[in-house]
Amino acid sequence: MPETRRLFFALALPNEIQSALVAWRGSHFPLSAGRPVAQANLHLTLAFLGDVSAAKQHVLSQLAGRIQQPGFQVNLNDAGQWLRSGVIWIGPRHPPRLLLQLAGLLRAQAARNGCHQPGLPFHPHITLYRQANEAILLPPPGFNWSFSVSEFALYASTYRQGRTTYRMLEKWPLSMESLP
Ligand code: 2AM
Repeated sequence: MPETRRLFFALALPNEIQSALVAWRGSHFPLSAGRPVAQANLHLTLAFLGDVSAAKQHVLSQLAGRIQQPGFQVNLNDAGQWLRSGVIWIGPRHPPRLLLQLAGLLRAQAARNGCHQPGLPFHPHITLYRQANEAILLPPPGFNWSFSVSEFALYASTYRQGRTTYRMLEKWPLSMESLP
């Protein structure tokens, strides 16, 4: 059996957005909401690849490197809870077309290379809590954090001694032409 790594493509969040989200989460959700995702692990997944061999990683990296599209802006102004997966999330109410395009391409390339992709449509989000299996009252609308996206990256996920760590392996630029 070749060695595999658990990989995913994602957008990193600026440090100041990560800390703003942690502060907001702390003041708007009960302690019992679920297991909070560590600040440094807050990210927006574009495509989850699962356990991938080095050979397949190489192919998917090459394909990712050929993507040419402009950057975009993400507004985090929507939140929700998925009871079935126990996730509380924040995300854009109206995802930018270019975000959907980028995720769509990466997910299609992953699927064509044998990385099973969920049948559900892509719903861009940042997971704030896991194991949130009891319905909670969500904060009222009115919040909005914005950030500009000028690159995307491939991450490896490791789980050791009860802790998940994400490590960026490679990143690719998006052109800046459509950013303000
Ligand atoms: P989530 O935050 O919505 O749970 C790394 O594990 C990232 O890949 C997580 O952000 C997770 O999204 C996403 N992901 C998607 N499908 C997954 C799966 N089947 N198992 C683990 N992570 C998955």
